[in-house]
Amino acid sequence: MSTEINKDRVILEATDVVRQYTQSDEVITAVNRASMKVYEGEFIAIVGASGSGKSTLLHLLAGMDRPQAGTITIRGQEITAMNADELGRFRGNYLGMVFQTHNLIPQFTALENILIPTLMCHKEGASYEEMFKKLVVSLGIEDRLHHLPSELSGGQQQRVAIARALINMPHILFADEPTGNLDRANADEVLELLLETKNMIGQTLIMVTHDMSIAERADRVFRMDDGKLELCNRRSAR
Ligand SMILES: Nc1ncnc2c1ncn2[C@@H]1O[C@H](COP(=O)(O)OP(=O)(O)O)[C@@H](O)[C@H]1O
Ligand SMILES: [Mg+2]
Repeated sequence: MSTEINKDRVILEATDVVRQYTQSDEVITAVNRASMKVYEGEFIAIVGASGSGKSTLLHLLAGMDRPQAGTITIRGQEITAMNADELGRFRGNYLGMVFQTHNLIPQFTALENILIPTLMCHKEGASYEEMFKKLVVSLGIEDRLHHLPSELSGGQQQRVAIARALINMPHILFADEPTGNLDRANADEVLELLLETKNMIGQTLIMVTHDMSIAERADRVFRMDDGKLELCNRRSAR
C-alpha cells in the first residue's frame, strides 16, 4: 500500500476484549481476549475460518455490540464506557459499516438509502453534496439513484451500501466480507473503490475477508482462530 502509516497515531485500541454467547446451557466464547492496535490510515484485514469470531469482533470494534470484558478506545475515547446515546452519536460522527449482505432499506430508493446517515447524524459544516457527487460518480451509480434496491444488481446494491457508509466521511470504515457476495470482477472493483475513497479522505479501513487476494493488499493482516486474535504478518513495519 502506498498510504503512509503514522505509528504515532493510534486510532483504535482494543484490549482483552471478550464476547460470549450463551445458548441453552452452552457458553460460546466467540471473542477470547482479543487485543489490537490500529494506526490512522491503515488498511487492516481480518481473516479466519467461518465461525472463528470475525463478525463478532468487527461488531464490537464498530460499537454495534458490547463486550463482557475488555476495553475498546477509538480516537482516544473509550467507546466501551459510553452510554447508548453517546455511542450512537460517536458512531454517526466517526464510524461507518458495510456488511456482506447490503442491508439496504427495501422501500427506499438508492438515493434515499445513501442519505439516511446524513439525516440521522448531521455533521456540522459537512459538505454532503460534494461527497455525494464524488461517491456516486466513482461508484458508477449516478443513473441508478431513483431505483429501489430490488431493481439493482448485487454489485450495484453493494455500491449503494458503500456510498451510504461513506457519505458521512467516517474516520474508520468497518467492512464485513463486503465482496463476499460478488463475483471476481465486481469484488476487485469494489475493493479498488474502497481503497480509492480511503486514500481520498485519509480513512482507516478494517475489513473481514476470506479473499486472500484482498488480504494481500492490506497493510497488516490479523487472523481469528477460535476466538483468539493474532497478527499474521508485519509487512508494513516501516
Ligand atoms: N447471536 C449469536 N448467538 C449465539 N451464538 C452466536 C451468535 N453470533 C455468533 N455466534 C457464534 O459465535 C461464533 C463466532 O461467530 P461469528 O463471529 O459470526 O464468526 P465468523 O464471522 O468468523 O464466521 C460462532 O460459533 C457462532 O455460532
Ligand atoms: Mg462472519
